[in-house]
Amino acid sequence: MDADHVPSEITSVLLTESQIQERLAEIAAQVDTDYAGRDLLLVGVLKGATLVMADFVRHMKSHVHMDWMAVSSYGSGTQSSGVVRILKDLDTDIAGRHVLVVEDILDTGLTLSWLLKNLGSRGVASVEVFALLRKPEAVKVPVSPRYVGFDIPNVFVVGYGLDYNERYRNLREICVLDPWVYGG
Ligand code: PRP
Repeated sequence: MDADHVPSEITSVLLTESQIQERLAEIAAQVDTDYAGRDLLLVGVLKGATLVMADFVRHMKSHVHMDWMAVSSYGSGTQSSGVVRILKDLDTDIAGRHVLVVEDILDTGLTLSWLLKNLGSRGVASVEVFALLRKPEAVKVPVSPRYVGFDIPNVFVVGYGLDYNERYRNLREICVLDPWVYGG
């Protein structure tokens, strides 16, 4: 689905499909270099990171392993609750592994700071973060991702994996949601 298919629900296109893909290719090349000679495990955070992961790994030129975690912090609203729950844990024992967490968005930082503590307590060789999007103005808990796709303003964005009430994840672009959709 494109933004053109839901024009009344979208205020603007923040990042086009080609901007996203170009940036993913740059970061994939950087990760290939940084982890050369090491066995890398990418951990995607469901569900938002599914599209990032799918495209990101196809830009990479090295072997990678993938695993997935599902955590919940938002529920169905637009504000972070601060309560993080594991809905699905990793299938992999990550002790001694080099782990790169793949996230669609770093908003308040509550989810990632919790996740980094959790993964860090499992005896990893290293754990770093790749967040496609970061909202510097929204941060409540400082997290330092090693790789960031784009810094964006503090607006409610959907598309390319990001949802509102489970809709819009299949938009090709990252778009600003019109506030009438969520009653704002
Ligand atoms: C989103 C996103 C991050 C988190 C970021 O997940 O994928 O995991 O919120 O927000 P924070 O920095 O304020 O913690 P969400 O809980 O909406 O689940 P989803 O990926 O299934 O949409």
